[in-house]
Amino acid sequence: MRPVRWSGKQRETAYERWGGAPFFEALVDRFYQGVENDPRLRPMYPDDLADSRRHLALFLGQYWGGPADYDALRGAPRLRLRHAPFTVGPAEAEAWMEHMTEAVESAPMEPADRGELLEYFAMAARNLVNSGP
Ligand code: HEM
Repeated sequence: MRPVRWSGKQRETAYERWGGAPFFEALVDRFYQGVENDPRLRPMYPDDLADSRRHLALFLGQYWGGPADYDALRGAPRLRLRHAPFTVGPAEAEAWMEHMTEAVESAPMEPADRGELLEYFAMAARNLVNSGP
């Protein structure tokens, strides 16, 4: 017997609302197009960006309520630790945000969602700064 759902529909996650995995894949593709052509950031990344794309898209999908595929593939995110090998100063964080802002601004989504996503990225990028003043 199915349980009675007296509270109506389950609350939809941002992951579902924005379009699931394809949304995050498109966002990350757009972001890496920017990184690929940015001399401030490109040298930090591996020559082949395929894994970088996959990992970031899975991480973001998981963060916003999708399946725990990032954890399954990579283990716990521990992003500060994973960024420790790189010099992330205010300039690098700003360059990263520039490309992510461009990607978010070109994504098809409601203005309130866009704002929420941009705020999250700004907070996360600030939090990963590990060098400089
Ligand atoms: C603040 C500026 C940032 C810089 C300069 C930066 C740079 C990098 C670099 C060089 C890598 C390694 C390349 C790779 O193996 O993929 C990396 C990996 C990664 N970054 Fe960032 N990042 C920044 C901010 C962020 C933010 C804000 C997030 C999340 C919201 C993030 C999420 C990730 C993830 C999930 C990985 C892959 C970790 C793994 O599984 O190995 N990064 N980042």
